[in-house]
Amino acid sequence: MVAAAYPRYTTVAIVLHWLIALLLLGQFAFGLALEDIPRGTPARGYYVNLHKSSGILIGLLILLRLGWRLTHRPPPLPETTPGWQRTAARISHILLYACMLALPLSGYLASNFSRHGIKFFNVVHWMPWGPDDKTWYAIFNGTHHLAALLLALLVTVHVLAVAKHMLIDRDGLLLRMWPCRGKPAGQVPAHQPVEN
Ligand code: HEM
Ligand code: HEM
Repeated sequence: MVAAAYPRYTTVAIVLHWLIALLLLGQFAFGLALEDIPRGTPARGYYVNLHKSSGILIGLLILLRLGWRLTHRPPPLPETTPGWQRTAARISHILLYACMLALPLSGYLASNFSRHGIKFFNVVHWMPWGPDDKTWYAIFNGTHHLAALLLALLVTVHVLAVAKHMLIDRDGLLLRMWPCRGKPAGQVPAHQPVEN
């Protein structure tokens, strides 16, 4: 069976993977929607602070996930996995983690190099600890843009790689990260012939 051939990530790693994936998707859409709110209006301040606040909470979850990852080995890949695929998976996972950290960190730093600081859920005002400096703000805000773009690109490649494993290789890779032990819909075990 494919499930036996593919040991799974721990339940904590699986829950954090899917929870953070969903939250990042929502936060990404939220960030894009901010672009449509005219600058200098009260609505913009309100929604930007909501984005900052939810982003900080997601950032803390990401730190928790990284901590878990660094203290728990992922399940080994099948011995038949070619060397280049192991390297590609390793590099893309490191880049995904780097972007996941860079996004909330750059947003947090940019907010502290602007006079606005952060109004946590529009209730508690955290005064900025840095100077109101346009150059540093532009650097961190630019990093935020870039990390958002790069994350979108990496996630697209990540999903395409999983799709290739599921649809072409038919090796059940998704089972390593799937929330339940059963076969995901449409999954065909690697050793069974496909009937058309
Ligand atoms: C924002 C979206 C996502 C992010 C940031 C993300 C990030 C990651 C990261 C960092 C890993 C490596 C886990 C580790 O070793 O610690 C991983 C593994 C995995 N992800 Fe995602 N992921 C996302 C969405 C998805 C989606 C939509 C799918 C399904 C199509 C998926 C399927 C998988 C699978 C199957 C693995 C295990 C790969 C392996 O065993 O080598 N991910 N993901
Ligand atoms: C946790 C994940 C986060 C994601 C995925 C995310 C994503 C985005 C996206 C896609 C945009 C619109 C495009 C851009 O300006 O880059 C944006 C804008 C913004 N984000 Fe985030 N963000 C996150 C966290 C944060 C945090 C923690 C803060 C601050 C504490 C923050 C502050 C901002 C600000 C101020 C803008 C508007 C920038 C402008 O219009 O010039 N973000 N974010």
